[in-house]
Amino acid sequence: MADLFRLDGKIAVVIGGAGGLGEPIALGFAHQGADVAVASRRLDAVQKVAEKIRKETPREAAAFQVDATDEKSVIRLKEQVLEKFGTVDILVNAHGTSIKKPAHEFPVDIWNQQFALNALAFMLPCREFGKVMMAKKKGKIINLSSVRGTRATFWGGNTGYSSSKGAVDMYTRALSAEWAPYCINVNAIAPTIIRTPLTESLGILSEEHLKKYLANVPLKRIGEPQDMASLAIFLASSASDFITGQVFYLDGGLTAVG
Ligand SMILES: NC(=O)c1ccc[n+]([C@@H]2O[C@H](COP(=O)([O-])OP(=O)(O)OC[C@H]3O[C@@H](n4cnc5c(N)ncnc54)[C@H](OP(=O)(O)O)[C@@H]3O)[C@@H](O)[C@H]2O)c1
Repeated sequence: MADLFRLDGKIAVVIGGAGGLGEPIALGFAHQGADVAVASRRLDAVQKVAEKIRKETPREAAAFQVDATDEKSVIRLKEQVLEKFGTVDILVNAHGTSIKKPAHEFPVDIWNQQFALNALAFMLPCREFGKVMMAKKKGKIINLSSVRGTRATFWGGNTGYSSSKGAVDMYTRALSAEWAPYCINVNAIAPTIIRTPLTESLGILSEEHLKKYLANVPLKRIGEPQDMASLAIFLASSASDFITGQVFYLDGGLTAVG
């Protein structure tokens, strides 16, 4: 049974691999036996994660520069990963952005920027790495969404972020149905607040904010990076072979009661 969760011999690509959630996922995969390609725009940032993986685990890791909103850049990433590792078994889209603006004056350029990173930049890696998975009739795709893809907030500014994450959820479901004949599992993880450098810098982990926020969270805590890594490992492993097209709420029960 324990082997069901192992990823030995698998090749994983984590885009946004130096992010607050991408890094623990990439490290978690390597600890389970996968070789990992980490990619994002800042090569130095993903290089540090690749070094950490090589130091902490016996697995191979490589860093690549990519702008996931750019078609040519994503195609180049696929070619580089194939050249280095020969194939791909697992893709994680762990990039994204949240730009808050009042709905009545939402600037078009910010709206398009948010959709480029939260929607187009998910489709492009799925399309390109998916072709490799289609050819071998096996693969696992994990898209990072948010509880905001299904629940609005009383506080404003979230129309762009929420609707882009709603797009991630429906893209995930539609893709899972289209690629089921190729045995490619496509799922999404939709977290509430997870403790990362980003959420720390936004000030949303302050005692005052958390007191209000956690009033609606049955488990009465925010998520930790390890919570994300555990679910991602499950969805990347053969333990989840019969699960596709699902959005998993990593939220301490928030969406169960809200
Ligand atoms: N943290 C949370 O509490 C939370 C809650 C709900 C949902 N989420 C979702 O989870 C995902 C990851 O969040 P996070 O907290 O880990 O964010 P983060 O720490 O800001 O990491 C995002 C990563 O995406 C990369 N990135 C940005 N633009 C990119 C582009 N054009 N191409 C390739 N990579 C790009 C960034 O690296 P570079 O700057 O090097 O490109 C960065 O490392 C997002 O989709 C977010 O919406 C997070």
